[in-house]
Amino acid sequence: MYLYYRKKLNKTNIVLLGFPGAGKSTIGKQLANKLQYTFIDTDRYFEEKYRFSIFDFFEQIGEEMFRQLEHQLLNDLLSKKQCVIATGGGTPCFFDNMEQIKRSSISVYIQLSPTSLYHRLQNSKRRRPLTKNLNSEELNRYIFQELSKREIFYKQADFIIKGENFDLNELIKILPI
Ligand code: S3P
Repeated sequence: MYLYYRKKLNKTNIVLLGFPGAGKSTIGKQLANKLQYTFIDTDRYFEEKYRFSIFDFFEQIGEEMFRQLEHQLLNDLLSKKQCVIATGGGTPCFFDNMEQIKRSSISVYIQLSPTSLYHRLQNSKRRRPLTKNLNSEELNRYIFQELSKREIFYKQADFIIKGENFDLNELIKILPI
């Protein structure tokens, strides 16, 4: 186990995974600040690089191209060092993205219950393309169904932390950095 992390420490990016609404960006900023790492949010990076909001990109060009560009962009980001990278909710679930994350970085899944995610997404002001037209019942169903598919990937993370009562110092304590 020790050797496994020693190997990873050469690169020391920390990659945060989790469903939309899990708080990846908020936690990522706090963590980067505390560790004095660079914070990168893959969605914001995408939007700046392609000069498109994610929402408009899905509407006008589509998810398939988004996933391809997201995959390329992730490759570029993982070659950096000492970054905290907050991924999009779907990022680890396409192509070999999760393998690449695991090979190059320390990964942390921020896990929330479907009920917590539902409340957070209901109260979120951000327009999300995949949930834009869903009523409450449909959103609930979407979270249950999609989370169970995505957790196959998320749960491969090196660490799993509960997002409900998140404590930054607890997270820092468990990270082998
Ligand atoms: C997506 C989540 C979004 C964004 C895109 C697709 C998804 O990121 O990458 O809309 O597949 O769940 P957040 O997790 O930051 O909302």
